[in-house]
Amino acid sequence: MYPLIRNRRLRTSESIRRLVRETVITPDDFLVPLFVVEGKGIKEEIASMPNYYRLSLDNLEKEVRELWQMGLCAVLLFVKVPDNLKDNEGTEALNSNGLMQRAIQTVKSACPEMLVMTDVALDPYSSFGHDGIVAEGKILNDETSEVLGEMSISHAQAGADFVAPSDMMDGRILTIREALENEGLTDTGIMSYAAKYASAFYGPFRDALDSAPVAVQNVPKDKKTYQMDPANRFEAIKETQMDVAEGADIVMVKPGLAYLDIVREIRNEVEVPVAVYQVSGEYAMLKAAAEKGWLDHDAVMLEQLIALKRAGANIIASYFAKDAVRLL
Ligand code: PBG
Repeated sequence: MYPLIRNRRLRTSESIRRLVRETVITPDDFLVPLFVVEGKGIKEEIASMPNYYRLSLDNLEKEVRELWQMGLCAVLLFVKVPDNLKDNEGTEALNSNGLMQRAIQTVKSACPEMLVMTDVALDPYSSFGHDGIVAEGKILNDETSEVLGEMSISHAQAGADFVAPSDMMDGRILTIREALENEGLTDTGIMSYAAKYASAFYGPFRDALDSAPVAVQNVPKDKKTYQMDPANRFEAIKETQMDVAEGADIVMVKPGLAYLDIVREIRNEVEVPVAVYQVSGEYAMLKAAAEKGWLDHDAVMLEQLIALKRAGANIIASYFAKDAVRLL
């Protein structure tokens, strides 16, 4: 009891603060999202994501070497698919010589030890910008999961270590696990976007990949019939428990900062590693405020990353990974 106990004793110097600090960010915490495009020598800045780029395969190779040099050990690949290759079924996703498959090979040959995770969802390949096949105004569940299973096999055969389904179809973890098993791909892991919310924070990402749902008749204009309602908490726990039961090796909560309560709930609930995705809108907000001189970029960035880890995340997918590691 005060005055015998004075909590400020543990804050009197940087040394004592270091000694009692509970949460420390290291390069090992990060999963680095990368956007890949066709072409050569391309490094295009994404308008709503300052200092973040779409890279052609030659630049992807350079980037991955740099990341490895910096001590970063895992990447999460996304591809921007040319419009003429998009259709309702995501046919191009299964092309063994497609952009994703070549991107996986590029990373693995540049840097064999770099852990490669791949986005498994139809939206970059969908002419409607949906994560599933569209029919009569609905997003088909089981038909989509079948394609995701095939897609996962294709990524694994190209060299992916983990597939990361980000679509939120029911039962897709089981479908993917069984598809991988049937091909003997027993070492390929699954990081499930287990609790992914229908969030407005994904806007800049959809700019990056040109993957927003299109405005045409009889196509849902948002993803609310598959991604979760931001108002719900129990549903996140149920989704996550089901994914673990279906064989997810890692589960993810997405977005990050607005969902720290969910990160903590899930961390307390399951025994697998928990990842969090600090999404494009979170990145854009801080970049914009910093550009205006309204927030201290580096201090706010580190505070947010600490908050994600303190909330219970074991892995952080973040566009700030390089910025952060430079400061550590
Ligand atoms: C799509 C996907 C999205 C993100 C990752 N995978 C967008 C969406 O669901 O519409 C968002 C990532 C971000 O905003 O940084 N399957």
